[in-house]
Amino acid sequence: MKKIAVFASGNGSNFQAILDQIQLGAVKAEIGLVVCDKPQAGVVDRAKSAGIPVFCFVPKEFKTKDEFESEILAALQKHQIDFVILAGYMRLIGSTLLGAYTNKIVNIHPSLLPAFPGKDAIGQAFHAGVKVTGVTVHFVDAGMDTGPIIAQQAIEITNEDTALTIADKIHKVEHALYPKVIGELVSK
Ligand code: GRF
Repeated sequence: MKKIAVFASGNGSNFQAILDQIQLGAVKAEIGLVVCDKPQAGVVDRAKSAGIPVFCFVPKEFKTKDEFESEILAALQKHQIDFVILAGYMRLIGSTLLGAYTNKIVNIHPSLLPAFPGKDAIGQAFHAGVKVTGVTVHFVDAGMDTGPIIAQQAIEITNEDTALTIADKIHKVEHALYPKVIGELVSK
């Protein structure tokens, strides 16, 4: 059974969706570690309630990205992690982790990349007035939401939609798509 680490900075609803599908037996993987750069984040409580080890760190306590990524890498190796799953982790991955986990780091982004990369992709789509947006799962490289695309799913934006209702639609798609893609990835 492959072991994954989920990296998150916030609520952790995608972490929860992945965990739920693992517990249902639909995804054949184990979450060996949660990595979080915000000790107060909701994902930390979710992981603790599920008895999953958490590696929390405060980035500003380190001089460089390489320094905190070296500590993350040590934790990943200690827990024998095979794949890194980014789920709302609000930082670019640096060369230390990219070098150690080449083609083994994936991210989910709430737009149809290459449209609307970076922060607040849902707000960007809403304000641009597009009628279709969606979700992208991709391999991670050194850029911002730029790695090779693995899967995408579209949603429609109607005239009645607000940024909030678009977010609801996006999250619903994410919670189904991400566990499915991870299941396929770990079974290769
Ligand atoms: C998701 O919309 C994901 O696409 C983006 O960050 C959000 C994380 O949400 N990268 P959650 O913490 O999983 O609820």
